[in-house]
Amino acid sequence: MAIIASNFKTNHTRKSTASFINEVATFVEENNIDNEIFIFPPSTALDSFEISSNIKIGAQNAYATQKGSFTGEIGTSQLDEFGIKTILIGHSERRHVLNESQSEIAKKYSFYKELGYTIVYCIGEPLEVKQSGLEKTLEYIYEQFEGIDTNYENLILAYEPVWAIGTGVTATNDDIKNVHSAIKEKIDKPLLYGGSVKVNNVNEICSIEGVDGALIGTASWIADDFKQIIENTKDL
Ligand code: 13P
Repeated sequence: MAIIASNFKTNHTRKSTASFINEVATFVEENNIDNEIFIFPPSTALDSFEISSNIKIGAQNAYATQKGSFTGEIGTSQLDEFGIKTILIGHSERRHVLNESQSEIAKKYSFYKELGYTIVYCIGEPLEVKQSGLEKTLEYIYEQFEGIDTNYENLILAYEPVWAIGTGVTATNDDIKNVHSAIKEKIDKPLLYGGSVKVNNVNEICSIEGVDGALIGTASWIADDFKQIIENTKDL
């Protein structure tokens, strides 16, 4: 059974998110889909939705606080309002575009772990590291586990090579297999692949040994495409 996740990033409004989620929820129910599905809308679109238990709505980010004075951030009071118990942590755009440090990420991780959240924790190397080979790539990835309790029961990992995110360049099956099997040897947790996953390659990617599902950006933002992605992986 594959885990299929859609990260909306800075896309969709409150209104379009609601119609996307309703459409996907209906599809999942009518087709008896038992994939585990995650949807990460922008924080302005978080809400309570009528969805089956195999669909989870998560936050793309939140601060390590219940509430307080952290301008521009949200905390658990805002997530509790909608019963949200899932969060993405360590996404490469937060690491590299928003300069979130490993220590800030680890602090956030511990905070949400203590509260029992399902954490989708992202790791992945930039192009120059990938070009220095598998050993350097793994070294870089392992540094992203600094301060992270990898035995946490509600942890899902997502390997997202930075050079493959939003670029249309998917990692090769061998790249994925090599990194996934190395991580899996150390950490026994579900491990998703992300980075230019598309409707027509999602089945192949999710069938690679050591891949338990996909975390998808661009190709998942149109409801029909996301439904097709779910359809294409429902028998895995
Ligand atoms: P793309 O699917 O657009 O490459 O994004 C992947 C990603 O970052 C998902 O979190």
